[in-house]
Amino acid sequence: MTGNSIGKEFAVTTFGESHGKIVGAVVDGCPAGLLLSEADIQFELDNRVPAETKIVSGRIEKDTAKILSGVFKGYTTGAPIALIVENCEVDSSTYETIKNLPRPGHADYPASVKYGGFQDYRGGGRFSGRVTVALIIAGAVAKKLLNRFDVDVLAYTRAIGKIEADKKFTAEEIRRNRYLAATRCPDLACGKRMEEAIVDTKKEGESVGGTVECLALNVPAGVGEPLFDSLDADLAKALFNVPAVKGVEFGLGFGIAELKGSESNDAYVIESGKVATSTDNMGGILGGLSNGMPILMKVAIKPTPSISKEQKTVNISTMKDASVSVKGRHDPCVVPKAVPAIESSVAIILADHMIRAGFIPKVLERQK
Ligand SMILES: Cc1cc2nc3c(=O)[nH]c(=O)nc-3n(C[C@H](O)[C@H](O)[C@H](O)COP(=O)(O)O)c2cc1C
Repeated sequence: MTGNSIGKEFAVTTFGESHGKIVGAVVDGCPAGLLLSEADIQFELDNRVPAETKIVSGRIEKDTAKILSGVFKGYTTGAPIALIVENCEVDSSTYETIKNLPRPGHADYPASVKYGGFQDYRGGGRFSGRVTVALIIAGAVAKKLLNRFDVDVLAYTRAIGKIEADKKFTAEEIRRNRYLAATRCPDLACGKRMEEAIVDTKKEGESVGGTVECLALNVPAGVGEPLFDSLDADLAKALFNVPAVKGVEFGLGFGIAELKGSESNDAYVIESGKVATSTDNMGGILGGLSNGMPILMKVAIKPTPSISKEQKTVNISTMKDASVSVKGRHDPCVVPKAVPAIESSVAIILADHMIRAGFIPKVLERQK
């Protein structure tokens, strides 16, 4: 398997499977001199699983982040940072019975073809949502680095199924509220309705998807490496690598296709002596470069593939028609857990590009 690394100057490699011993990440290229502790990593990791367990899988791991290398006397050294989290709550019993019955919507069938049946199919193996733990611990390093340069990345749930928060949120509301709601929606009343919808869906043996919005604030103008490492292209790539992501939009996204140029163009203005735009229809990126405005992304997430409702499939051993009802522990909606994974993916790409564009030096000034 290749394709487990992302980023050029701030390069992240992840490893581990759902039911293996550990999941982890190696972050190579983090500048020296960043204050970094296990508590920083744990802080982000603790946001992964909502406290309201009715809306998530029954697999509740007491995830503990460990830093194995690359930090000395509290500061990053510039050497690779190895980070791990153990898998403790593994139950693989339900996977033997369905190993020849590829779950519709999951990666089982193409993975069995590509890896000749040698892939670890327990819990979805390398294709499990569990691998987002590795993204989050690597993303925690990226976020800490970005925060040194005042860049903030904030993701939150906009919709679950047909229930959509229709408010425009301020950055402060998102920052304060998103992890208070189990569904990660900053509108707490709407978040509660989303929660009920997820519980009802689960009772029907079904699952539901939704949308996550993400904004990156204070990214300076000029970040990105056109043509082929454009900032939007790299962000989209990272976002599509989060399991279950089926769509990514920037700014007005697909809605922009219906507008005229005069309606879609963001007019330039001078604000506090700096160039800004009066609207942000482009989502903060022009020509593959940040333009100094907030980078706005919207991500579509599909309903969880594993559902207990019976579905048609085939038996890849007998090559006959079959059906499958997926038992075991599954998230009825992956959106709440995808929120920090999306935030982390965006942070990793921004850290990489800010180093590449020279906005972040290889050695930081010593912090007290
Ligand atoms: C945080 C997270 C948790 C997930 N949990 C589950 C789950 O419990 N059951 C499941 O079938 N899929 C789950 N998924 C989705 C699958 O991992 C994903 O649909 C599958 O790997 C196929 O990849 P694709 O949807 O990107 O094509 C989860 C995804 C994420 C991001």
